[in-house]
Amino acid sequence: MRIGILSCSPNAYSTERLRVACERRGHKCKVLNTLRFSIFTESGRPALAYGNKEPKRLDAVIPRIGASITFFGTAVVRHFEQMGVFTLNTSHAISIARDKLRSTQVLSRHAIGMPPTAFVREKSAVLPAIERVGGAPVIIKLIEGTQGIGVILAETTKTATAIIETLHSTNQNVLIQKFVAESKGRDIRAFVVGDRVVAAMRRVAVGDEFRSNVHRGGRTEKVNLDPIFEKTAIRAAQIMGLRVAGVDMLEGKDGPQVMEVNSSPGLQGIEAATKVDIADAIIEHLEEQVAFTDFDIRQRLTVAKGYGIAELQINARSKLAGKTVADSGLRDLDITLLSITRGSLIIPNPRPTEELRQGDTLLCFGKQIALKTLLPAPSDRRSAPDPS
Ligand SMILES: Nc1ncnc2c1ncn2[C@@H]1O[C@H](COP(=O)(O)OP(=O)(O)O)[C@@H](O)[C@H]1O
Ligand SMILES: [Mg+2]
Repeated sequence: MRIGILSCSPNAYSTERLRVACERRGHKCKVLNTLRFSIFTESGRPALAYGNKEPKRLDAVIPRIGASITFFGTAVVRHFEQMGVFTLNTSHAISIARDKLRSTQVLSRHAIGMPPTAFVREKSAVLPAIERVGGAPVIIKLIEGTQGIGVILAETTKTATAIIETLHSTNQNVLIQKFVAESKGRDIRAFVVGDRVVAAMRRVAVGDEFRSNVHRGGRTEKVNLDPIFEKTAIRAAQIMGLRVAGVDMLEGKDGPQVMEVNSSPGLQGIEAATKVDIADAIIEHLEEQVAFTDFDIRQRLTVAKGYGIAELQINARSKLAGKTVADSGLRDLDITLLSITRGSLIIPNPRPTEELRQGDTLLCFGKQIALKTLLPAPSDRRSAPDPS
């Protein structure tokens, strides 16, 4: 295969490791400076130039998008997607991961442990928000910070409100988050590739520093990951839509608390701490996935007029409860059942003999007019259950 690594730092450890792994596995690999691309959109022909030249057709790209170039970097990745080139992490997933608010919003719908977090704008809402997430000491975070810069521990409510008000006055968006005190100065980084954790480490901060980032002097140690941490990391990466992710979790007294999910996790610290060849695992996964280029399923499926995707909850009053897929009548309504979520179980492409049960969530594609008749009244709806 011909693989491109999108990176602004060709000499960085992670870039070099990935390049070497590509070549060792028999691929042609080029490190391409993300910022050197020009993006062209013309009717029916999305195109890219590299420097001033037409780049060679690639089979896959590995985005390593630094936080300082998220906007342009994700635009380049998105363009590769439009051109039908496989991207290891999608532009959409990278954009979500880069935004700490957006990530916590997306994760909060699911039963994933996470520190309670608030986002407010009005001055009068600051104090109640601090109280609601657990009161001082409290964590204040810039939405797009990295490497621990932009994360503050405010010891008292007074300091916290002063900091938040100051940041608000300079138009900075900040999150107010519960300080998970029992995990002070330590967290777990799980490196997820596909549906598994390939390596994990604990990071421990120096002295009385509460931030365990390696860039803040944190040291690393190998850990044998508790299964609940492993499961949480994999679920978090899946929910975020990342094939490769560095999931950071605090060790809360009630289990893992996901803090952030990184879309371009570094390899250096974790390969050194665990001696796992993560670069090789990434390229192996890329080889398995390369046939599945990303596209927006909603965009593709709903261009047919009047068709859409919907989630149906089977409640006690549902006519479908107790019926098999074959007897459900969905097919006659021109509705295709894509999957069933039942507690922690997901049943993709359910067979005709599968029974629909109360509590199931059905992911359906079909005529919206027919789907509408099966959806409960808006006041009856509840959020989708989490399959974990
Ligand atoms: N809610 C929290 N409770 C306790 N420690 C935290 C909390 N949030 C962040 N930290 C500490 O600060 C570090 C940096 O926070 P993080 O949200 O990962 O920002 P960054 O993107 O800058 O790494 C974490 O690795 C952790 O050690
Ligand atoms: Mg972090």
